[in-house]
Amino acid sequence: MTSLFDLDFEDAKAHHKKLAEQIRHADKSYYIEDAPHISDADYDALRRELESLESKYPDLITKDSPTQKIGVTPPDKGFKKVTHAFPMLSLSNVFRKEDVIAFIDKIRRFLDLADDEVIEIIAEPKIDGLSCSLRYENRKLVQAATRGDGSQGEDITENVKTITSIPQTLIDSAPNILEVRGEIYMARAAFEKLNEAQKQLGKEGFANPRNAAAGSVRQLDYSITASRDLGFFGYALGEVSEKIADTQQGIRDKLASWNIPETSYKLCYSISDIMDNYNELLEQRSELDYEIDGIVYKVNRLDWQKRLGFVSRSPRWATAHKFPAEQVITRINNIDIQVGRTGALTPVARLEPITVGGVVVSNATLHNEDEIKRKDIRIGDMVVVQRAGDVIPQVVKVLSDKRSGTEKVFIFPDKCPECGAHATREGAEAVRRCTGGLTCPKQVVERLKHFVSRLAFDIDGLGDKIIQQFYDEGLIKNPVDIFTLENRNKNFSTPIREKSGWGKISEKNLFDSINKRKNIPLNRFIYALGIRKIGEATAKRLASSYITIESFKSAMIAAQDKQSDEYDDLIAIDDIGPIVSSDLIDFFAEDHNLDIIEKLQNLINIIPYELPDTLSSSVAGKIIVFTGGLTRMTRAEAKAKAESLGAKVSGSVSKKTDYVVAGEDAGSKLNKAKELGVSILSEDDWLSIIS
Ligand code: IVH
Repeated sequence: MTSLFDLDFEDAKAHHKKLAEQIRHADKSYYIEDAPHISDADYDALRRELESLESKYPDLITKDSPTQKIGVTPPDKGFKKVTHAFPMLSLSNVFRKEDVIAFIDKIRRFLDLADDEVIEIIAEPKIDGLSCSLRYENRKLVQAATRGDGSQGEDITENVKTITSIPQTLIDSAPNILEVRGEIYMARAAFEKLNEAQKQLGKEGFANPRNAAAGSVRQLDYSITASRDLGFFGYALGEVSEKIADTQQGIRDKLASWNIPETSYKLCYSISDIMDNYNELLEQRSELDYEIDGIVYKVNRLDWQKRLGFVSRSPRWATAHKFPAEQVITRINNIDIQVGRTGALTPVARLEPITVGGVVVSNATLHNEDEIKRKDIRIGDMVVVQRAGDVIPQVVKVLSDKRSGTEKVFIFPDKCPECGAHATREGAEAVRRCTGGLTCPKQVVERLKHFVSRLAFDIDGLGDKIIQQFYDEGLIKNPVDIFTLENRNKNFSTPIREKSGWGKISEKNLFDSINKRKNIPLNRFIYALGIRKIGEATAKRLASSYITIESFKSAMIAAQDKQSDEYDDLIAIDDIGPIVSSDLIDFFAEDHNLDIIEKLQNLINIIPYELPDTLSSSVAGKIIVFTGGLTRMTRAEAKAKAESLGAKVSGSVSKKTDYVVAGEDAGSKLNKAKELGVSILSEDDWLSIIS
């Protein structure tokens, strides 16, 4: 290969252009599409090469060179945010026949259906595109939005209006308000044509049709969207002003009658129908006009869908049966250790780059040291790698007969590679963790990234790279610093706007994006704290149990005493057993953490958890215990219904319990309720309260 310094100026200029394009493309996939296509190391190498080229040929330093800019224009500068009338949900996944059986069994149990009662299932292809909500008012398309975080997406109305198969007006039989949820996709042929055209223009193509669809829609200049050949399939409803059907099939028929494009589907009556259809589609998959990554199963009866409701962000009445992941063979060039937010040391295989399912993969997770031992993975090994959907690529197995004898066994470090602190394994945990806590710079940076991430504070202006840079420069060392940055910036010798790549406008945008998030709902705040094992759903349960930050904090402190009522209340919350509770309690036992929370409370507004239907539901906020046998609904259904009305369902009776709903043959819990003077309701009383 030519060395960098052999190039004469014309060659250097051409090379500079190519590098700049690669970097811009990488920036875009990293910052905007959330889908980096090259590793951090490769990205850094590109930047270093560009910098050394510019230091040799300073004339190449133009205003728009990537060395003069950070990241790319964040999308929120262009797209308006849209709050969805009904949240846009995701789907749980199943992979094997047994999982499908379990999915159906669970529905049967939840609804208490007899073994021979047929549960009709609509099976539809799972389109691999970009989900979108179309809102029609008085039969006119008034808004189109991306899913975003499920509650809030981006306004892409103008872009969507350029998609010719989406009707802009509906015929008279359509309701006054109709929200259609569906998928925008790019057909395979259109994708190949687009990539060919991109190549002719010297641009890099899209990795796969889904990225191409997303990249085409999320364009501020919607004439670009118009120039791309996109399609749409409708598959669900959001807000609707009137009931349009009794079944999912009925919804599909109605949508089709209003000229909304619909996929093919199969009505299944048994597991064998479901599996036959799965195998058929799996075979036809590569011949379809568009990419699908599985099949979606939906309970056909809408009254059952309603009773089944949701768990967290996914419906109980639907699931996605994913196709098997694509597998390829490549070499492990090296194994690195990554340190995460909770100190976990995760081994990562650096692979000889290879395309899997249309995406270039150069890293795969090896999970933990036991996994490396179990699979006997060595540096230099040829391995089978698979990638399923958005999941991080995995090493499936080693091809040991391909070994030459030069492969090296990997010795797992017992010190943190980032800060040198001991890395230990606790109890039966497979994960080795850095014990450095907040003295480990990597843990701190990862916690900061989590704090500003989409489901937490969602601060667009603080991307991963900027967090790292500001941490390295000492500007942001903990979450509090984020909210004091604007004030401190006034006294910096080099204010942010004077840093390389920044200016007055980007500085203002940064502070705007921080200030916009100074009001945060309690559930997001709890999630943002990054406490081990407290994911989004658990954070929500905690928020709905404690309502305000003050009562949450004081309960967590009091719960340190395992004899306290607060401890009993905590472990009675769904999903929170002794292990999760100990992580929570440990977090609140640290003065440092309490100090951060208190300082944050002074700088921002933590909004009390808003119980759903607070005004209309008389049980909102109440603590309810179900005991004994219920006859008109299953226990799971009763609990889900109570929770959907904002009540908290607990497993044990205490002074704080508001109602005990006593079914047939209720025993000790009923007695305890009588002892404590808690209100006791029959199943009928309960039904009349909530009806
Ligand atoms: S139904 C409440 N049906 O898959 C149910 N989703 O992994 C909402 N998707 O966000 C989804 N094809 O973007 C449904 N036939 C189909 C689908 C489908 C693709 C996407 C959708 C959803 C994601 C969940």
